[in-house]
Amino acid sequence: MEPEWLDIGPVTQLPALGARTLPVQGGAEIAIFRTATGSVHALVNACPHKRGPLSQGIVHDTSVTCPLHNWRISLLTGQAQGEDKGCVPVIPVKIDSGRILIARAEALAGLGAEAA
Ligand code: FES
Repeated sequence: MEPEWLDIGPVTQLPALGARTLPVQGGAEIAIFRTATGSVHALVNACPHKRGPLSQGIVHDTSVTCPLHNWRISLLTGQAQGEDKGCVPVIPVKIDSGRILIARAEALAGLGAEAA
């Protein structure tokens, strides 16, 4: 079944390699990222290590480096990279006519949002 999508604004609000956060009432804050190639990804804004704010990390390729202890988290899977173990929920995103849409159910659920 096609998920219900929430329009959260134009893609142009996100600079390349930038991020912004989206508070979710009753759920976990979401971080929206834009890569150098223009793809947009959304993760719960809590590192799987100690819940660092991933939105303040540095985006490179399709991962973000956590600002607290430099874990690298995949923007595609939410998985920690390399030796580190853990996963943060990924929120499905699509772009439609230059607008960013995120999957409503996953956004509201925060998908548990607990560190793995
Ligand atoms: S909280 Fe992200 S690396 Fe420690």
